[in-house]
Amino acid sequence: DSAQQASIGSQTCPFGGAGAEKAAQDGCPVTDPAAMARAFDAFEGPYQLDPAEALRWSRDQLPVFYSPKLGYWVVSRYDDIKAVFRDGILFSPRNVLEKVTPATPEAMEVLKSYGYAMNRTMVNEDEPAHMERRRALMDHFIPANLEHHQEMVRRLTREKMDAFIDQGRVDLVEAMLYEVPLNVALHFLGVPEDEIAVLRTFSVAHSVNTWGKPTDDQQIAVAHDVGRFWEYAGKIIEKMKAEPEGTGWMHETIRKNAEMPDVVTDSYVHSMMMAIIVAAHETTSLASVNMFKTLLSNREAWDDICADPSLIPNAVEECLRYAGSIVAWRRQTTAPTTLNGVDLPEGAKLLIVQASGNQDERHFEDGDKFDIYRDNAVDHLTFGYGSHQCMGKNIGRMEMRIFLEEFTRRLPHLRLAEQAFTYLPNTSFRGPDHLWVEWDPALNPEREHLQLAHDNLYFPVGAPSRRDIARKVRVADVRQEADGIVGLTLEDAKGRPLPRWSAGAHVELVAGGYDRKYSLCGQADAPGYDLAILREDEGRGGSRYICDHLREGMELRLRGPSNLFRLDEEAPAYVLIAGGIGVTPILAMADRLKALGKPYAIHYCGRARATMALLGRLQADHSDHLSLHIKDEGARADLPAIVAALPEGGQIYCCGPERMITALEDLTADRPEGTLHFEHFSAHDTGLDPDKEQAFDVELKDSGLTLTVAADQTLLDAMQAAGIDVASDCCEGLCGSCEVDVLSGEIDHRDMVLTRAERAENRRMMACCSRAKNGGRIKLA
Ligand code: HEM
Ligand code: FES
Repeated sequence: DSAQQASIGSQTCPFGGAGAEKAAQDGCPVTDPAAMARAFDAFEGPYQLDPAEALRWSRDQLPVFYSPKLGYWVVSRYDDIKAVFRDGILFSPRNVLEKVTPATPEAMEVLKSYGYAMNRTMVNEDEPAHMERRRALMDHFIPANLEHHQEMVRRLTREKMDAFIDQGRVDLVEAMLYEVPLNVALHFLGVPEDEIAVLRTFSVAHSVNTWGKPTDDQQIAVAHDVGRFWEYAGKIIEKMKAEPEGTGWMHETIRKNAEMPDVVTDSYVHSMMMAIIVAAHETTSLASVNMFKTLLSNREAWDDICADPSLIPNAVEECLRYAGSIVAWRRQTTAPTTLNGVDLPEGAKLLIVQASGNQDERHFEDGDKFDIYRDNAVDHLTFGYGSHQCMGKNIGRMEMRIFLEEFTRRLPHLRLAEQAFTYLPNTSFRGPDHLWVEWDPALNPEREHLQLAHDNLYFPVGAPSRRDIARKVRVADVRQEADGIVGLTLEDAKGRPLPRWSAGAHVELVAGGYDRKYSLCGQADAPGYDLAILREDEGRGGSRYICDHLREGMELRLRGPSNLFRLDEEAPAYVLIAGGIGVTPILAMADRLKALGKPYAIHYCGRARATMALLGRLQADHSDHLSLHIKDEGARADLPAIVAALPEGGQIYCCGPERMITALEDLTADRPEGTLHFEHFSAHDTGLDPDKEQAFDVELKDSGLTLTVAADQTLLDAMQAAGIDVASDCCEGLCGSCEVDVLSGEIDHRDMVLTRAERAENRRMMACCSRAKNGGRIKLA
């Protein structure tokens, strides 16, 4: 409705700017978070325009707040949203399909006249019923069982593209992005493909009915459509029942309903028939529209993909992170609880805003920037997380990859047309109603090279492969930083700005067949990345290659930046301890603490002055805070004294050799949790010898599965094969990105991430290297 849509366009203070800080600079009078919370409106203004930006103030100042206009608690930080998704018992999904705007009595009457009885499906079902049902109906969604659908998706995509490729201008929504996901969904479900137009009205009505704010008059019209949709879903089920051998997921559901009616109930089948069309279709259509809009507005990213289509799977993930189609989801507390320090009563309704979590700088470096090279984009929350995580995520990904692949190959010269975008106002589903694009058909590459219309790449079903995610950089400077240590400055190969990074972040250099991680140690606002690299004579060759071969002007590839050694900026005081080349993240932390005006002390230990990198910078910028402990000069660090001098609540950050970290672990054993933070740079051999290893069983509580990890397989491999996206990075127990939560069972920890105390607690493990002790059974969250 144009009146509602028009109101989306205004972006003014108090909650439209870049948070309270910026608002204050701009002279905005309202910087009080309580006032921002009161003003929060989920249907109008900035939230509809850009939900992540509209909640920046909340992420920074009040990450859990009550919105009186909506009647919900709004949750905006990544970790909090994930924690809510993770605990499906305390945070029940029962309100997921509840109407955000309650129905008027007249609308209820209309719905009743159709026998409307929408009830629990999958996404809003509580445990234990949900997992039993999900397990019974999971098979069709396993990655290996989805592969054969790629051909169908490609065929449907090409049919549409062939029809408009010579036109030069289309609305992509009308021309294909609405219908193809709908047809794919119908094929996957095994639902007859007729009546697409009817379904279209119905599914819009279902979205408005559930997540929108219809006026009282609109409620009546919507209720009729929803009622008819309900009847229609019932008819389809009857039609499908008459075909007992039918293929597709809904046929399977109908068969399971006959086999196990207590698990796959009649009410479920009817409700799901209606809900799944929206779940499978609107989500993917809108995500695809958002993807094209985002990429065509970030032309460099589009051009990079045209030049290198192996970037597609990660670009899709970054689009889902940055401009996902589900921006917020819901939960309801089943008991009083506390979330990030805020007390929530029993029955509290939560709006967990994934779009905001997806741009949280506490999880994503330079989180509000679109970056197809981001190496943890796959951590986004657009598909939800935990036991209810989207079952169809790999179908959505598959479609979006194929769309992008066909378009970047056949229409690389596509551009956005001038237009004003309109959106259907609602809390959760987001994507423009239309997307006009233009191109010059005379320049279609397939007019010259016919084969181009038929070529295609293949991407295996599942999360993107990390191997393909790397940006090109150029060596801008090579210098001798100290004896045996080379300093490098890297810049983007095309002279674009590199992403911002936070203290403790690292990058991974991909050069000469090696992948090696190095902390960033330059000034945070410098245009290039500074690294200091120790040439390790005894190492595996990566550092030797880099130190001996890299020259100014050479190009190489780089992953990251990522940060797994984050500085908690809330502590009252800090001690930073560097051993040798471990000084690199420590220098970045010192710079940050100085900028924040926090008390800090730096202890830098080395063999001889000439071997100590970055000394000049430390002495120039941090001389009052710096203590040097140089072995050749007879000064060794007195670690017990350093730890003893740490004020209460203070934190220690150490990067250095293993023995230094072990000593600090001993010295801080009786200090509160979170006192010591460290990062290692060496790993033990993590290769698996199947003769020495034992297979073991893992029960996965959040996903309700039990897997067997073979003797020659890691837990990470086994989980990824089952379609569970566990983030991973180093795959050698160094980085902490593959951490999973342990509920029970004894773990043989083989990582270099967890502290001794954390191991003893038995609550976490690294899936890439650690295993069950003696082949025992373990249970994970
Ligand atoms: C659940 C998003 C595509 C089927 C969900 C949830 C979200 C979501 C946010 C709730 C997750 C949670 O509570 O943790 C999306 C997005 C998609 C997409 C953004 C496309 C880009 C699909 C497709 C299908 C599908 C194509 C099916 C063919 C389902 C089902 C559930 C679900 C069955 C319920 C899972 C459960 O509760 O156990 N989806 N979805 N989705 N989705 Fe998707
Ligand atoms: Fe790095 Fe497992 S992937 S610790």
